[in-house]
Amino acid sequence: MRCTKCGAENPAGKRFCGDCGAALVNRCARCSAENPPEKRFCGDCGSALGTDVVAEGGKQSAAGADGGVRIASESQTPETIDGERKTVTALFADIKGSTELMEDIDPEEARAIVDPALKLMMDAAHRYDGYVVQSTGDGIFALFGAPMAHEDHPQRALYAALRMQEDLKRYSARVVADGSSPIQGRVGINTGEVVVRSIETGAGQVEYTPIGHTTNLASRMQTAAPVGSIAVSEATRRLCEGYFVLKPLGATKVKGVSEPVNVYEVTGLGPLRTRLQRAAARGLTKFVGRQREMEALKHAAEQAKSGHGQIVAAMAEPGVGKSRLFFEFKATSQSGWMVLEAFSVSHGKASAYLPVIDLLHDYFEITSEDDERKRREKAGGKVLMLDRTLEDALPHLFSLLGIAETPDPLTQVDGQVKKRRTLEGIKRILLRESLNQPLMVIFEDLHWIDGETQELLNLLADSIANARVLMMVNYRPEYHHEWNNRTYCTQLRLDPLGKENAGEMLSELLGDAVELNALKRMMTERTQGNPFFIEEIVQALVDEGVLVRNGTVKVTRPLSQVHLPATVQGMLASRIDRLAAEQKELLQALAVIGREFPLGLIRRVVQRADAELDRMLAELQLAEFIYEQPAFPEVEYTFKHALTQEVAYNSILSERRKALHERAGQAIERLYADHLDDHLDGLAHHYSRSPNAGKAVHYLHLAAEQSAMLTADLQALTYLDRGLELLQGLPEGRERDRQELALQIARGQSLPATQGFAAPETMRAFGRARELCLLFGEKAQLFSVLYGLRLFHRWRLELQTARQLEEQLVSIAEELNNPAKLAQAHGSLGAELLWMGELLAAREHLEWAKAAIDSAESVPHQTAASLSLLAWDLAILGFFDQSMKVSQQTLVWVQGVSRPFAQAITLQFTSEFDQLRRDEQAAWEHSGSALALGAEYGFPGPTSSAAGHGRTHSNLVARAFTRDLHEN
Ligand SMILES: Nc1ncnc2c1ncn2[C@@H]1O[C@H](COP(=O)(O)OP(=O)(O)OP(=O)(O)O)[C@@H](O)[C@H]1O
Ligand SMILES: [Mg+2]
Repeated sequence: MRCTKCGAENPAGKRFCGDCGAALVNRCARCSAENPPEKRFCGDCGSALGTDVVAEGGKQSAAGADGGVRIASESQTPETIDGERKTVTALFADIKGSTELMEDIDPEEARAIVDPALKLMMDAAHRYDGYVVQSTGDGIFALFGAPMAHEDHPQRALYAALRMQEDLKRYSARVVADGSSPIQGRVGINTGEVVVRSIETGAGQVEYTPIGHTTNLASRMQTAAPVGSIAVSEATRRLCEGYFVLKPLGATKVKGVSEPVNVYEVTGLGPLRTRLQRAAARGLTKFVGRQREMEALKHAAEQAKSGHGQIVAAMAEPGVGKSRLFFEFKATSQSGWMVLEAFSVSHGKASAYLPVIDLLHDYFEITSEDDERKRREKAGGKVLMLDRTLEDALPHLFSLLGIAETPDPLTQVDGQVKKRRTLEGIKRILLRESLNQPLMVIFEDLHWIDGETQELLNLLADSIANARVLMMVNYRPEYHHEWNNRTYCTQLRLDPLGKENAGEMLSELLGDAVELNALKRMMTERTQGNPFFIEEIVQALVDEGVLVRNGTVKVTRPLSQVHLPATVQGMLASRIDRLAAEQKELLQALAVIGREFPLGLIRRVVQRADAELDRMLAELQLAEFIYEQPAFPEVEYTFKHALTQEVAYNSILSERRKALHERAGQAIERLYADHLDDHLDGLAHHYSRSPNAGKAVHYLHLAAEQSAMLTADLQALTYLDRGLELLQGLPEGRERDRQELALQIARGQSLPATQGFAAPETMRAFGRARELCLLFGEKAQLFSVLYGLRLFHRWRLELQTARQLEEQLVSIAEELNNPAKLAQAHGSLGAELLWMGELLAAREHLEWAKAAIDSAESVPHQTAASLSLLAWDLAILGFFDQSMKVSQQTLVWVQGVSRPFAQAITLQFTSEFDQLRRDEQAAWEHSGSALALGAEYGFPGPTSSAAGHGRTHSNLVARAFTRDLHEN
């Protein structure tokens, strides 16, 4: 940090110059705001701050003010956290034919021609907050969207490019006039993801540079650009279409890319200015909700119309619908009013009066085609027609609109006086106009407003109390104004859409097909009712082919594969980047921990002193990134927006992300050591994203077993598949095989619920498990495998194969000397024999189940099935009394074991037994109870369908009986 008073170097973060004692102030080169010395970015405009610090009262140090080329402001490297992933727009610009240009001239002469061109390129980039990474000698490489993210980084890059070309043309004309060859530039632009990081290049030099295909393609675009033009890629076009005029140059083969890529030339500004206009060009979604706000606006308009001027200030987070609300209100209420509109733009803070000029253009109906004379005529004519006494304001208006007469009559007037008279003049015109008809003045996006426009607004706000003026302004929460205490100011705070309105919007976008309900639920939750997020994500799903519109909307791919649209990503990233580096680092760590996070967990993952961490969390809370929610025994936090968490998470480099996940896993293990069962999902989640694959497999298996116990087989399979995937990364050998065996058995057991007993996938899982078992010879596991396999064959009616497997099961159980397994094996073999018609042999084996009734190790639903089948077998053999007794005993027993699945199976088998006995009433009741249990506990497939079938059957039989009775 250099003191500009005495020139001494001071360590970063110092408040006073160590040599001369002058207070050090970190003044922003862009907006002149003063910042504490230790800050890296301007708290007002977000621009990167230079290292040259101004001593209070001193002059701002002007990097490059001598007209020479220095990438001075970039030499202070932005603070990044070990590198980050970012979505940026990269721009390459160079001077065409510089080699030929320099061929015949002295290097110093060449420098004199090239350096000013480079300087104006850099100035153009800086103007739109671009970061110049490098000067390439005869060109520059700049980034937009890094180090500070900006939601409109692609537009900024294109604005800068247009300005570069314009300035270069002017410069070239001058050079040519001096007798040199013309200077022409080419610009190439591309948007996409990069990793940005700081690299030490020696001798204390640090370079902040991006890496990734995005920058390569931008450089290729530059080579593809016709001389004197700007070429952009498809990715940039998609984000800028409408804001700029783009001419397709066709698919072009570029070096290093296998497929030809589409290239577009930027020829000028397009017809669209705001995001809402762009949305309108795409087709606006039906307007939903907002009745209260519309009423408030209507009420204010009535007041204003009757001469009680009003201000309505709408505040909401980005994308919630401020502009749309004004748009809808204007559409329904503008008849009889004069409406004037002005917009602030995100790069406009540094450009004085931009929205005011906009508003005046609108008022005077000046278009971009009008030349200076025409503009003067339009403005002068309108003012004089309105009221001749306003004539004295004209020179000020002309000056503001850049159409002052020559010589300018105001050159001698003091700047402050000129400003006051300009603002006064505009105010008088507007108030005078409101005498002719009521006036609606709309100012959008005050959070980006420049100082001068703000002064006009303050002046207007002070003067409209008794005028027929309705001032409508909107802004995001970070903006503050001083009109709150005015009696004629209404503050509207817009919340995101509620569930019902969000649902209405989604129905409008997606239709009402029942299959889309899950998607709609997911969308409402993910976007939390932010209509901009809803629209953009639906659009991204369509663009990526996940949703296909063909009359109706259909989902074609799993939703997990969808990327967050660049528009939404940019909006959220720009908020995150406004945080100080340490805050951002914390937010990223929180994003890894999860959507919700108890304080204890944060403390273990984020290694900071308690007091410091508390302060930082409070700051993040204040900035509304996270909320605190009451919880017992300790405080819990949650991300306010799920999508902010996603963006923060995605910005972390995978190495750091993995390390944080491992820390989170370890923290959970320590924090909840005595009840890990309640945290298996979290442990599986974190470890499977960490470098510790061994632990990941361990917890994925446990979480799968837990899910399977709760009959959440689909979830269990997700864990198991991920476990098998991670297993591939572990060293080969006995231990890995042992783990795979456990996972394959669990898969085989869960697959029937989702794909069916006879599904080839089930066979594959058990087949692989059998292979592994044969390698180890672990009998107990082989038993589980064969037990699963025999069901596969039974359901394919390969009864002989099933029977052979069951005979093997019996002998394994005997070898193991395990009564529970013996009962299982015999029960299964008995069932097979029953299906094969060997009724006497079947009885012998099914009887084994009786022994299992009291065994704690037996599996109740298997015992229930065997006993039920024994009742069938006995009935078919003609032993009705015995059969009835077994059936009754089974029902009584199963009611006592409090295992709903065993109960459902027994009831289903019993209902079929009832049918055998022709007791339709009992069959109806038992199948009904089985179905009710199935519905309550969500038992899938076979149980419910068998019970449903039983019920239909008994219903049909009952009806047939009744009909028979009537007919006889
Ligand atoms: N009530 C609504 N019904 C339907 N669509 C809406 C509604 N509100 C907003 N939208 C849509 O959501 C998108 C974002 O809305 P809008 O541009 O008004 O947000 P904003 O609050 O002005 O955001 P920003 O702060 O970025 O300017 C627009 O495409 C708009 O049409
Ligand atoms: Mg808006």
